[in-house]
Amino acid sequence: MTNGHGVMISLGTLQSSELQKIRVASAYLFSLDHAKDDVFIESLDMPMVKKAFRAKAKRYHPDHCRDTAPDDIRKRNERFVKVEEAYRVLRSYLPESDSTCGTEAERERRIIAVGGAKGGIGKSIFSANLAVFLAGQGKKVVAVDLDLGGANLHLYLGETFLKGSINDYLQKRVPTLDDIAVPSRYGPLLLGGDSSQLGASNIGFSQKLKLVKAIKQMDADYTILDLGGDTSFNVIDFFLMADRRVVLTTCDPASYLEAYSFIKVALCRRLNRLFGIESELRKRKDALLETIIEEFIQSQMGSKVRPICELLSEVTEKLPGRVDVLRDAIGRFSPLLLVNRVGNRCNVRQVVKRLQDVSRKVLSVNLSYLGALPQQAEIEMSARSLVPVMTSHPDSVFARDMKVLAENLIMN
Ligand SMILES: Nc1ncnc2c1ncn2[C@@H]1O[C@H](COP(=O)(O)OP(=O)(O)OP(=O)(O)O)[C@@H](O)[C@H]1O
Ligand SMILES: [Mg+2]
Repeated sequence: MTNGHGVMISLGTLQSSELQKIRVASAYLFSLDHAKDDVFIESLDMPMVKKAFRAKAKRYHPDHCRDTAPDDIRKRNERFVKVEEAYRVLRSYLPESDSTCGTEAERERRIIAVGGAKGGIGKSIFSANLAVFLAGQGKKVVAVDLDLGGANLHLYLGETFLKGSINDYLQKRVPTLDDIAVPSRYGPLLLGGDSSQLGASNIGFSQKLKLVKAIKQMDADYTILDLGGDTSFNVIDFFLMADRRVVLTTCDPASYLEAYSFIKVALCRRLNRLFGIESELRKRKDALLETIIEEFIQSQMGSKVRPICELLSEVTEKLPGRVDVLRDAIGRFSPLLLVNRVGNRCNVRQVVKRLQDVSRKVLSVNLSYLGALPQQAEIEMSARSLVPVMTSHPDSVFARDMKVLAENLIMN
């Protein structure tokens, strides 16, 4: 039997030694709880295994721990070897079947969210141009304007008229997202927004879930979510639902301080919703762990900075069997940092290092650096002429750097 991604494991056909190997591998790549769960093991597929492997490899890869104590480095190396072995084991039971490999069913779909707490830093410019670039590579791309209070992605994609908007879908004026989708002239399919409607940006949690579900069901290789410039629940929840989470900043202190706040708020929301109805862990709800997390996050809201490692220590002490779940959630959060509007006087290395250091120390988050894009005069011209710069100036430095960055992003 397959689940649409490839061959699945059938427990009934395995010898007990094989099942044991699979459980051990699942414990390394997922968690102990997952390893004990027969339903979970039977639902494993290659995209899940690859994703988990990437996350663990990122966490334990020897190259990612240069400034750690030698003893820690040794432990990480040992863990990395186990993770690689676990990946090899699960892969051997989940061959990528010839009949589905490379077909519609097998295709890995990705949702990429573009956030960053500040307005005017280039989230929409980046989203539009990323979408145009990927569409130019022959991919099916959907660009979604989730800046519900300040929708303008359509303009950056050259569309001045929308036959409908996400708000029409949310207000049930149209039954499906296909009814509002516009094939934009530069390639991506566009789901535009209309912030001129009263209350456009105030949507409830169930509406958000409905929208997210419908977006996930769209036929696309890549779905790009352009988010608003704040840390409201809407923005953060859309950010968290993505597979790739890009945080944009510029070199301005106001911008990178907001980028840090954004990462922090998003992590807190993720932990607060660890067992929420939208979470894959909802069936493993642990009331005590939930309370510990909630109280910790409440205490964070005060003026005292409490690093997340204190939460990990508390859970290790009170619920040692559950600390892996928490570590895993933090490990998989993995935002990617992008510095935009880089000019001559911008010290990108310093900005990136500051953000990475504080994210690691305070949030225990590994903030990966995705890349930088230059301040480019042509962007303003392209914004005025409603032609994405990837099309109007394909040889510009911005377009060149954008290609490298987009490739990194989809390989990541
Ligand atoms: N790399 C760049 N070089 C030059 N100008 C840029 C660059 N990126 C963005 N801009 C300029 O910044 C303006 C704001 O960009 P954009 O609308 O993408 O910001 P935003 O982060 O989406 O803001 P908001 O949160 O308000 O939606 C654009 O009109 C554009 O002129
Ligand atoms: Mg925008």
